[in-house]
Amino acid sequence: PSDAALVETLAAQYAGTRGALLPLLHAIQHALGHVPGEAVPLVAHALNLSRAEVHGVVSFYHDFRDAPAKGRVVKLCRAEACQARGADALAETLANEGVASEPVYCLGLCASGPAALVDGRPVAAVACAADLDVADAPGV
Ligand code: FES
Repeated sequence: PSDAALVETLAAQYAGTRGALLPLLHAIQHALGHVPGEAVPLVAHALNLSRAEVHGVVSFYHDFRDAPAKGRVVKLCRAEACQARGADALAETLANEGVASEPVYCLGLCASGPAALVDGRPVAAVACAADLDVADAPGV
């Protein structure tokens, strides 16, 4: 199905439910990897909200993306133990390899850092993008 059809199907499931906006947006992002701009009017219509309200929520919460992420979501530990194991240089290496990473602070893998989370999956002793298995990422 097209993105719009999928959004409409999901929206129909949530229509009439109180407090449905966030769960619905999460469901859309889960299904599509992002919340496309075209989803906003569909969601607004289904939940009886204004487009501005829906758009405001999508742009307010960092968890929502309005465009597909380039590759997987990589969170790189930038806390002390991982810093000592070269997390800063690693972040630069990843950036050079075209992998954007977001900082997180301690994943409990301090003894085998630098540590990262790839789509929520912990990875220890990261040295380069290949260790993160980001090459076969969906959406690349
Ligand atoms: Fe990086 Fe603890 S400091 S996992």
